[in-house]
Amino acid sequence: MSQRCAWQRPACWLILITIHATAIAKEFTVSATTALPYRPATALPPGPEWGFDQFAKVAAGAGLSATPVVDAAAGATVDQEGRRYLNFAGINFLAVDQDAALFAEFIAAGRRYGLVTGGSRGTKGVARPHLELEQLLAEATGNEAALSFATGLLANIGFAHAMSSGFTLDKDCAMDNTDAVFVLDRGSHWSMFKAVAHLKWGKQAFAFRHNDPEHLETVLRRVAGGKVVVTFETLYSSDGSMAPVGDLLDVCERYGALSYVDDANGFLVYGPAYRPFAAEYAALERANFTMVSFSKAVGLEGGGIAGPAAAVRAFEWLAGTSLFTAAIQPPTAAMAHAVARRLLENPGIIDDYLVRVDRFRSALLDIGCQVSSTPSYIMSVFIGAHETAAAVRDRFREEGILVPIFGYPAVKRNEAILRLILNNALTDGQIEQFLDTLARLKRELRF
Ligand SMILES: Cc1ncc(COP(=O)(O)O)c(C=O)c1O
Repeated sequence: MSQRCAWQRPACWLILITIHATAIAKEFTVSATTALPYRPATALPPGPEWGFDQFAKVAAGAGLSATPVVDAAAGATVDQEGRRYLNFAGINFLAVDQDAALFAEFIAAGRRYGLVTGGSRGTKGVARPHLELEQLLAEATGNEAALSFATGLLANIGFAHAMSSGFTLDKDCAMDNTDAVFVLDRGSHWSMFKAVAHLKWGKQAFAFRHNDPEHLETVLRRVAGGKVVVTFETLYSSDGSMAPVGDLLDVCERYGALSYVDDANGFLVYGPAYRPFAAEYAALERANFTMVSFSKAVGLEGGGIAGPAAAVRAFEWLAGTSLFTAAIQPPTAAMAHAVARRLLENPGIIDDYLVRVDRFRSALLDIGCQVSSTPSYIMSVFIGAHETAAAVRDRFREEGILVPIFGYPAVKRNEAILRLILNNALTDGQIEQFLDTLARLKRELRF
């Protein structure tokens, strides 16, 4: 079963653009109801040549309906448009954001450091919670230094920008990395493809087959000799696969390429020798740079890059997404630090979660589901035809359960999946309810 997410396809970018367009449309709705005087009444909407009207006509039929409005904090349940659903669609799977002690830490940090940095790091400075979070990230990944960003996406974009730009400070300090070559795993997240979009494909940007060290070697043989950066993920959020980290890094080292490993999904879940994927995480220590997101296990917002001190310090100025945009809000940085510390100091939290994940995977197999083969916490149930997947999503919704369906173009045609990340706030009873519903729908809709 191939479930590779194809974020690099233009049609898939469209989904993300739609999400932003929906948010913008909502802003306009607010403006209209409050009748802001400066909005020019004569402004014409984009004409048909832009394609938005046509898109709006077909979007709903393609499953891109209006973004639902949520009116309460999401945990085991999520309240959408006046109805409560069991939440099988979240990515903040440990659901710690409502934990009373951590929440109190958030509020105390907000009072002490304010809600904003109110300017870039270069001019306003960095708040202590950012610094503490960065120190923890450096230590947890075994690196010299780390830098935080408002999101993981901005970390990826900033890294690629810093590594492929020229910069002249004075006559003794001029760097020119405009000749850098990037080689990406084909299954990479959209943010990584976006990060290298300014580089010409086939000249400075290349892709190797998903999780395939031999194909990486074939590509590196062609481009070796210059400044080359290889980027791949640890745990892939589309198909739940784990990269052969050691083998990929062996190839990088043989060809003198730098490595940048996006550990958005595995950070703080995998790593200790007794947990799954220990060998992959032992090898990760050899990566030149490790990137993380704080929206997954940490369950908040933000991202970071850890690596050698000189490079990381330079990224503060050269990434662009550090200097020219907002940082993580200080209380969020403080809470991310507190959550990460809690997970590191209390390994039982993740251990217990992974036991529940294993039980859940076994239950999915017991009811005859075709589940992605890597035993990670990201599980894809194969459905097949898009129409069947849409019916599965709608029937679950009717029964009060929210599930994420990945259809074309996120996956290949007729290879739609139900992508499941178990939310730790769900009770065993709620999980049973989901499994019973899935078993029944599986029989009725024949997938
Ligand atoms: C592999 C990977 N990289 C980067 C990101 C972006 O992270 P963030 O949500 O913090 O922007 C994600 C988020 O889904 C991801 O899965």
